[in-house]
Amino acid sequence: MHWFINMVIMEKEIVKEYSNGDLTVVWKPKLCIHAGECVKALPEVYNPDEKPWIKAGKATTEQLKSQIALCPSAALSWYVKGEKESGDSAAREQVTVSIKPNGPLLVKGGFTLESAEGQSEFKKRPTAFCRCGKSSNKPFCDGTHNSISFDN
Ligand code: SF4
Ligand code: FES
Repeated sequence: MHWFINMVIMEKEIVKEYSNGDLTVVWKPKLCIHAGECVKALPEVYNPDEKPWIKAGKATTEQLKSQIALCPSAALSWYVKGEKESGDSAAREQVTVSIKPNGPLLVKGGFTLESAEGQSEFKKRPTAFCRCGKSSNKPFCDGTHNSISFDN
């Protein structure tokens, strides 16, 4: 098994890719809420203390697909070259709202977000809202709760 990394900068969004030679794991750091679900599910693949922190070659394509479906923020997705199929955790249909311990409020499933100014936006991907009050991207969570040891 082997892996390689591509880094693509699209507008302001950083997108990192890690392949196991078949499936490519796509990670969008800006969407990651550092919930650690990926590390819990596949510790041999995801290790924030190592570089690269994702070693896609340490798991099978099916293991990676199942784990990526559980990423709470849709920071992770995948594609297989030459195939139409791709996936991320946005595939869920039912809307669920959950409170992450010491972290954000997470809404999964399609919903309409109305701003204080009256603009509406349809969100089809899991969206994390800040509960700690310290995000620089309110109302969304930007992972700051981790660095301030938010406890609630
Ligand atoms: S949000 Fe997704 S990528 Fe980020 S730590 Fe959690 S499971 Fe991993
Ligand atoms: S809850 Fe994540 S930044 Fe506030």
